[in-house]
Amino acid sequence: MKKRVFLSASALAVMALSSAAVLAQDNTFKIGLILPMTGQQASTGRQIEAAAKLYMAQNGDTVAGKKIQLIVKDDTSIPDVTKRMAQELVVNDKVNVLAGFGITPSALATAPIATQSKTPTVVMAAATSSITQASPYIVRTSFTLPQASVSMADWAASKGGMKKVVTLVSDYGPGIDAEKFFKDRFIFNGGTIVESLRVPMRNPDFAPFLQKVRDAKPDALFVFVPSGAGAAVMKQFLERGMDKAGIKLIGTGDITDDDQLNDMGDGALGVVTAHHYAAAHPSAMNKKFVEAFKKANKGMRPNFMAVGGYDGMRVIYEALKATKGQGGGDALLAAMKGQTFESPRGPMFIDAQTRDVVQNIYLRKVERQGGELHNVEFDVIKDVKDPGKSK
Ligand code: PHB
Repeated sequence: MKKRVFLSASALAVMALSSAAVLAQDNTFKIGLILPMTGQQASTGRQIEAAAKLYMAQNGDTVAGKKIQLIVKDDTSIPDVTKRMAQELVVNDKVNVLAGFGITPSALATAPIATQSKTPTVVMAAATSSITQASPYIVRTSFTLPQASVSMADWAASKGGMKKVVTLVSDYGPGIDAEKFFKDRFIFNGGTIVESLRVPMRNPDFAPFLQKVRDAKPDALFVFVPSGAGAAVMKQFLERGMDKAGIKLIGTGDITDDDQLNDMGDGALGVVTAHHYAAAHPSAMNKKFVEAFKKANKGMRPNFMAVGGYDGMRVIYEALKATKGQGGGDALLAAMKGQTFESPRGPMFIDAQTRDVVQNIYLRKVERQGGELHNVEFDVIKDVKDPGKSK
């Protein structure tokens, strides 16, 4: 008799323990943030991690009764590694949401895992148009190359007064998008593309390509390279005296990346780009964001990657609130679609049909402002949907 009582007491204790464990797990909401923290794209990882942590510091780490746990993994921007990490995060860590993705191949490698496990996956950096079509569980808070490139082509052909342009892009998804959408629109506007050059994505040497551009003598060189590579392009562009030869540098805002711009020197002054975010964006919300970001990160200036991360966290937090902490993957996904809010970049919207970001694209010129180099906005195209989706 005594023994039975003892057994059931310990059985009860075990039960109590395991339900406490279940409860603890139920009360945790896990975000698996996969980023390139080392290697060529490390600045993207550094910016997005800092932004995600700032968002959590500002908005608390308990949402709808759940304790938010951010699990950061370094994929070194190797897509096979991204995929393995996504799998481990889903299967072992049982994350509720996947997020991050510094480059397009990493986002595409993860898409099948998002679909199979029904895990909402927030793409905070990668920007090839087709990414959101690779899985119905992908939502994007960064931008698309067609958004920026079409806007650039319109400005170049009209106010820019440019007639002949050479394009130079990184030879992979976003570069191909940038080239195609700039080219089609520029030709549609009456311009001529003299030559289209593609440089390797990994360890690019721009010198031989820039020599070709000099020889072609266009009015302008349109460039896309991924965040982190802009300073190298600028340096070689200036070293070869392209600006003195009367060739203007234009591009998507990836080349005048706020992460590097201040170190590019006065040679960058006057470069016009089209993009969705500038640290100099003159809104009260952005001023607060930039100040808080710098304060939390030893003066580091946030770039467009940081904003993609910050807004991505916002989309996750609001989805968790809307589902009162009770929703699975499908409910969370539904609550991400259609979110409309003010971002440090300006107004933005997650299109419920495409799950892609709709946002303003700004024309900006590099100027000295408050003793620093900045992308200063001088024109805006409002509520730009991804032009890649209508094709
Ligand atoms: C991408 O790989 O999709 C990508 C990376 C960096 C950028 C833009 C796009 O600046």
